[in-house]
Amino acid sequence: MGCRFVFDDGETFDTVPASGESLLATAERHSVSLLVDCREGTCLSCRGRLINGRVRYAERHERTLRLAPLAADEVLCCIGEPASDDVEIVFGYPRAAVRPARKMVLEILEVAPLSEKVMALRGAIRGRFKLVFMPGQYLEVQVPDNGSRRSYSMANASSTPNEVELHVRIIPGGAMSDYLQHRAKPGDLLDVRGPLGVFYLRRRPAARVFVTGGTGLAPVVAMLRDLVAWGEVDSPVSVLHGVTTRGDLYGLDEVQALLANFTDRRIAVAMQEADNTWVGVRGRVTDLPLAGELTRFRDDVDVYLCGPPPMIQAVRQVTDQAGIPPHRVFAEAFSAAPASATTKV
Ligand SMILES: Cc1cc2nc3c(=O)[nH]c(=O)nc-3n(C[C@H](O)[C@H](O)[C@H](O)COP(=O)(O)OP(=O)(O)OC[C@H]3O[C@@H](n4cnc5c(N)ncnc54)[C@H](O)[C@@H]3O)c2cc1C
Ligand code: FES
Repeated sequence: MGCRFVFDDGETFDTVPASGESLLATAERHSVSLLVDCREGTCLSCRGRLINGRVRYAERHERTLRLAPLAADEVLCCIGEPASDDVEIVFGYPRAAVRPARKMVLEILEVAPLSEKVMALRGAIRGRFKLVFMPGQYLEVQVPDNGSRRSYSMANASSTPNEVELHVRIIPGGAMSDYLQHRAKPGDLLDVRGPLGVFYLRRRPAARVFVTGGTGLAPVVAMLRDLVAWGEVDSPVSVLHGVTTRGDLYGLDEVQALLANFTDRRIAVAMQEADNTWVGVRGRVTDLPLAGELTRFRDDVDVYLCGPPPMIQAVRQVTDQAGIPPHRVFAEAFSAAPASATTKV
């Protein structure tokens, strides 16, 4: 059974999939890198156009596929398997655009609380490689003495690539959460791999609407820091942020200070389980004036969504209803680590 991958610049790879192997696994086994992120069918990063043959999906992916705004000829390589021996898939990017992630060592400089439930991990990349990344991308971090891996978005600007800053929501009983709360200390060396992900800032003069939940703010902080550092502050920017409780709220002072550099900026925050002192919107991020912001810029807007998977799904419905084309909506779902994340980086 054969499978052909064709890149935007005409580069072509013919591979032979193993039985039961996803298209992505086939490509990677032959050292062909594709754009990928979630590896579970939710982010759409790995999509390609099927111009020949048939692709099938396991039954467990049916719901995911129903929710995925794919064109009729598009397939998801991370969960799709070849179902005929003449599969040919075209990708809308050159192969050279996919930069391979590197293994690196991150030395912890500081672990400090940002709020009751969020901690900042600040560190420096050691060794001969620099962490060259685009704002919005993430690192995979190996939990010390545990061997499992967790993903965290860089909150630092890409202009300071080796001074890594991560914002981590502490989950009771979580492996990384437990390490950061109780054992992490300056000087600890963490094995990391990156940069990863295709949720990155598109540099073009369009309006930008950022919709974030909890620590989903981290990659947006990186994007705003970079936009300000580059002086690209003329396009309108809106940040719509949602948290569950006050303990999840952090970073707003900095976001507001960064937004002050933009001529057209808006920010709105919603808290789901608000206490009596909360003066903002009570509810979810979808209770904020999102549809209004999208309509304001409908003709030329990039929408960035980052946070828990249910938030991403709910906001995608709003962007669909507002008529925002799917290729202008970029999403990073902070899914829990799959069981497969237990192998070492
Ligand atoms: C691409 C990507 C980027 C990410 N970036 C960030 C980031 O910048 N900041 C950040 O805080 N997190 C981020 N995450 C989530 C992060 O990778 C971990 O899943 C999270 O920190 C929990 O790790 P842990 O080891 O503490 O808990 P685990 O040991 O993984 O989990 C402990 C328990 O909590 C559950 N659980 C795990 N995550 C969640 C969740 N989000 N909500 C509810 N229950 C959960 C698990 O199912 C398990 O039962 C990202 C995830 C992805 C996929
Ligand atoms: S990597 Fe395939 S949908 Fe996310």
